[in-house]
Amino acid sequence: MTIKSQNITAVAHRVSADERALVNGHKGGVLWFTGLSGSGKTTLAFELEQRLFARGYQVYVLDGDNVRHGLNSDLGFSPEDRAENIRRIGEVAALFGEAGSIVISAFISPYRDDRKLARSAAHEGFHEVYLSADLAACEARDPKGLYKKAHAGEIADFTGVSAPYEEPENADLEIDTGTLGVEESIAILTDYIDTVFGVPKD
Ligand code: ADX
Repeated sequence: MTIKSQNITAVAHRVSADERALVNGHKGGVLWFTGLSGSGKTTLAFELEQRLFARGYQVYVLDGDNVRHGLNSDLGFSPEDRAENIRRIGEVAALFGEAGSIVISAFISPYRDDRKLARSAAHEGFHEVYLSADLAACEARDPKGLYKKAHAGEIADFTGVSAPYEEPENADLEIDTGTLGVEESIAILTDYIDTVFGVPKD
């Protein structure tokens, strides 16, 4: 991303990532969920947030439908708007992660290049989690009735129906939410989080 402003100088923080991790009991970073609408992103994100918070974690969910009511209320679903949606969320998630929180982001984020940009914002603290329920499973669930509307021509550019979804090629973690239930998926995610965000005890 090119920087438009001139005469700006970045300033270093005096609290390090290690110091924050020591106080919080875990590292900060971004758990980036990607997958089709209906693949379980929101369900798993909020379930995980509640459980991690109960364990004393600093954790926060950024969810597509919520963020599109506020920060990104000026954006729609064209490829350009989705790119800007993900660019802003990628930056916000990276800031939360730097502040020491575990951010769980739940956005379709259908384009590989956009996800790549989000990864580069958060550097090594970024973990891409592909919730790989296939289109048939998501359409069968259709929790918000949106696939039905999309097929009826009532929603344009709907991911999986009239807009593309580019599957991750090298996700850090893949969970087949088409066949696994919530508890099984949460168990996999919890193990993963303990491994990548855990602070060695000694
Ligand atoms: S993204 O593609 O830009 O990452 P995002 O995750 O923010 O999408 O928003 C997706 C949510 O918006 C879906 O869960 C669904 O509820 C709603 N939605 C409304 N219109 C569309 C559309 N055309 N395509 C996909 N999702 C849509």
